[in-house]
Amino acid sequence: MKIRKISLLFRKIKNNSNFKLYLIALFIKLFLFVYFGKDYLNDLDTEIDINNFGKPILTEDQRLIFETVGVSYVPNKDRFNIFLIWYGKQLPDVYFKGLETIIFHHPKCDVLLFSNELSESILLPIREKGYNNTRIVRFNMTKMVENKIGYDFVEKANKLINGEKIGNLKITRVHLSDFLRYFLVYTYGGLYLDTDSFVIKNMEDLRNMISVREEFSFICSNKVYSTPKLKSFTCVSNGVYHFEKNHPLMRDAVINYDKWWSRNQGYDWWGRNIGYAPAGANMLMELIENSFDRINFLSQNKVLCLEHLSITRNEVNEDDPRLLDALNTCYTIQLLGKGSSSTTLKSFNESFVGRIYQKFKIL
Ligand SMILES: *[C@@H]1O[C@H](CO)[C@@H](O)[C@H](O)[C@H]1NC(C)=O
Ligand SMILES: *[C@@H]1O[C@H](CO)[C@@H](O)[C@H](O)[C@H]1NC(C)=O
Ligand SMILES: *[C@@H]1O[C@H](CO)[C@@H](O)[C@H](O)[C@H]1NC(C)=O
Repeated sequence: MKIRKISLLFRKIKNNSNFKLYLIALFIKLFLFVYFGKDYLNDLDTEIDINNFGKPILTEDQRLIFETVGVSYVPNKDRFNIFLIWYGKQLPDVYFKGLETIIFHHPKCDVLLFSNELSESILLPIREKGYNNTRIVRFNMTKMVENKIGYDFVEKANKLINGEKIGNLKITRVHLSDFLRYFLVYTYGGLYLDTDSFVIKNMEDLRNMISVREEFSFICSNKVYSTPKLKSFTCVSNGVYHFEKNHPLMRDAVINYDKWWSRNQGYDWWGRNIGYAPAGANMLMELIENSFDRINFLSQNKVLCLEHLSITRNEVNEDDPRLLDALNTCYTIQLLGKGSSSTTLKSFNESFVGRIYQKFKIL
């Protein structure tokens, strides 16, 4: 088995016209592994063990909408919608803290947490503080997407979840979440945020925005783009972005999802028969050229607080200059828990992200 993996690897290298890029990607993967270790690997293993289309408990009104359009609440086109997605029965405490910061900065927006498993009651403490703009939205992906673009993927996903085999295809929460975020932003328009986001500033001004890492500092494709302000980027992030309803990039993402997801599965780097996010940021990078002029590119230093991302879990003093810099320049910072439900932080209060939370918490 090991030999096969190695020979596959060599074949891949030989076939790769851009050997240098390949080595860089290799190095990054190694770095991610060394740096985030178990988190990074665990995630690759996360398969869906339940029917994620679930059987949520709905009120009479919700049931009516749910059964006709596949969501228990239809996002309002006149509001600034913020979409979050959670697959899992519990939202770890630290992610709930992130949610508080999102709501704190967006009291006039609709914060919509798509989950079929979380109990509505988790939002009660926030409601009691006067924030009534946050909802848990139940969804039936099959119904939502039926007769629409993207249904090719959903149909296969359903079969796999029900135990059918389709070649060597696998479906994970990451795949479903990637698809759902494109579909929601395309269909309703709004801001998608990864659930491990801590928000530092209001983001309502960021329209049709996606973030990039300049100067080749992260290579995930061999396409290279520049804008007047951002030079030589080869990758976009799919963890934080905003697009208006029916935006062509999101449309392309929904349409192409199935193709990318099916094609980019198989042996991954660790010899595992899966891809982490086969139609994630890499796919978006391939698609941006079709609607380049309709996208506002922003630096990940601002949007994701990239310069401080590696210390989010570290303990820092209240007056640490890096913390002050983050508060001045960044919109969000992430925990990089990647949906891992075991995410815990020692001494949260003293951590970089904990200090940010203290400033923008609700509870
Ligand atoms: C939410 O709160 C605002 C301000 O407190 C209030 O005007 C609005 O009617 C409330 N909406 C609902 C649905 O309760
Ligand atoms: C989801 O929608 C599909 C298609 O309309 C339907 O067959 C299925 O029963 C629905 N599932 C739930 C849990 O409502
Ligand atoms: C963290 O700070 C909060 C107050 O903001 C306090 O209630 C809590 O006990 C602290 N936790 C620890 C472990 O010190």
